[in-house]
Amino acid sequence: MAKVYVFDHPLIQHKLTYIRDKNTGTKEFRELVNEVSMLMAFEITRDMPTEDIEIETPVCVAKAKVLSGKKIGVIPILRAGIGMVDGILKLIPAAKVGHIGLYRDPETLLPVEYYVKLPSDVEERDFIVVDPMLATGGSAVEAINSLKKRGAKHIKFMCLIAAPEGVEVVKEAHPDVDIFIAALDEKLNEKGYIIPGLGDAGDRLFGTK
Ligand code: PRP
Ligand code: URA
Repeated sequence: MAKVYVFDHPLIQHKLTYIRDKNTGTKEFRELVNEVSMLMAFEITRDMPTEDIEIETPVCVAKAKVLSGKKIGVIPILRAGIGMVDGILKLIPAAKVGHIGLYRDPETLLPVEYYVKLPSDVEERDFIVVDPMLATGGSAVEAINSLKKRGAKHIKFMCLIAAPEGVEVVKEAHPDVDIFIAALDEKLNEKGYIIPGLGDAGDRLFGTK
């Protein structure tokens, strides 16, 4: 069964407060989304394998650890997922980045796929699918379906804010995918927005409305 991790680290919670605040402007919003994404990436990579190598410090020969060549793919769900990528790449600069374009139909709230471009070696990579918002769960489920259909075997899902309804939908559809969340909010409203949430993540990141 999928594990759900909610990060209660004070730095993450502090930054998230300003991300939620409607008075936070586009520039600061973008910076904060990247900072929280970087902090989350630190935790999410905790299980990365390491190996010992021999090095020389200025005083002696020593065994020390390096990452043992795990191939990572970061997959932002367009548009808003893009806002998380730079922060994650600060910690994992060798990761490849694929894109899955989905928008949520405002009437049906169902995801509509319009673009997919992935690294060529999909079967060999560990993927982190990223999107600031997990609301009904439709977009996350569809993005993960899309990755699996193309051969991906190891997938994690990371978001800033999730609604309990969306978490259940993703767990049910993809029990093999662990979910990493900065904050688990109260509920969805009748328009499928997360309460209290942060509003429309894409609009706030890109200054559209
Ligand atoms: C937002 C958000 C997620 C999706 C979550 O994207 O970035 O992708 O909604 O909702 P769900 O869990 O109910 O599917 P949106 O459809 O607004 O597209 P955008 O990123 O292009 O603005
Ligand atoms: N998408 C958003 O951008 N915000 C929400 O609250 C729900 C879906």
